[in-house]
Amino acid sequence: MKTNTPFSDSENKPLPSMDLWEDDLLRRYPENGNTQKDKEAFRNYEAPARDTVREFYRLNHKYQTYDFVREKEQEFLQFNRKELKPWEAMDFLNTLVDDSDPDIELDQLQHLLQTAEAIRADGHPDWFILTGLIHDMGKVLCLFGEPQWAVVGDTFPVGCAFSESVVYPEFFADNPDNSDPRYNTKYGIYEHGCGLKNVHLSWGHDEYLYQITRNYLPEPALYMIRYHSFYSQHREEAYDHLLDDHDREMFRWVKKFNPYDLYSKSPKPPVVEELKPFYSDLIGKYLPETIRL
Ligand SMILES: [Fe+2]
Ligand SMILES: [Fe+2]
Repeated sequence: MKTNTPFSDSENKPLPSMDLWEDDLLRRYPENGNTQKDKEAFRNYEAPARDTVREFYRLNHKYQTYDFVREKEQEFLQFNRKELKPWEAMDFLNTLVDDSDPDIELDQLQHLLQTAEAIRADGHPDWFILTGLIHDMGKVLCLFGEPQWAVVGDTFPVGCAFSESVVYPEFFADNPDNSDPRYNTKYGIYEHGCGLKNVHLSWGHDEYLYQITRNYLPEPALYMIRYHSFYSQHREEAYDHLLDDHDREMFRWVKKFNPYDLYSKSPKPPVVEELKPFYSDLIGKYLPETIRL
């Protein structure tokens, strides 16, 4: 893929498939703690795949600095790249094909539909279902030539000390912020209980889609979108000192969403054409005619 970044091809694309980091989440957070079942139910983890995930996080932790995040916010939050109907944006995302990995059976749209269908089956409100449907739409960043480690992967605060609870914390040693006295203390540029609305997280598909949808969805949906990859908080609670009471309240929804994202993968693909009328109506209820990427 052609890119406009200063990074080499191998730095832009350390993973043979972008979804490998999500499979790695299943290894880290197996459903019901049952690793054997998960190994059988989901793609098997060979050592080389794990090595590419390791390399992915090495690059992610090295390059996601406070300045990098602020630059990406400047660059992408102008939304001057594309204007599409929401369903066209889903189709656009679906052009993200991992041709180098023959093991991929589910495309992007199917992961989104399966997540949404699992939420729907449990009788949750319609905006929750819609959140399942769109939560990874921010991955279109990859189609704009962005490095994989600036699109997917666990997110974490920048501008303050990196937590040991973030996956592969040893790789933060290569991040310049780690030796910058402005950023390498527990609070860094932030204050106790300042609230996540004041905290910059590493750049990726979560923040990007949050900014695209922020005027259209109920707040719990926006928290689910914005923080679904923030595992060091919603699973490890490593950044409690930055949260305010409102964040704590809203993180109940982030936690509720996570199992649908991780554990709704099923080898039986949903039939898009059958589901499309329902989801088109749902999109029409909440999202505008077109969205700007
Ligand atoms: Fe995601
Ligand atoms: Fe997802």
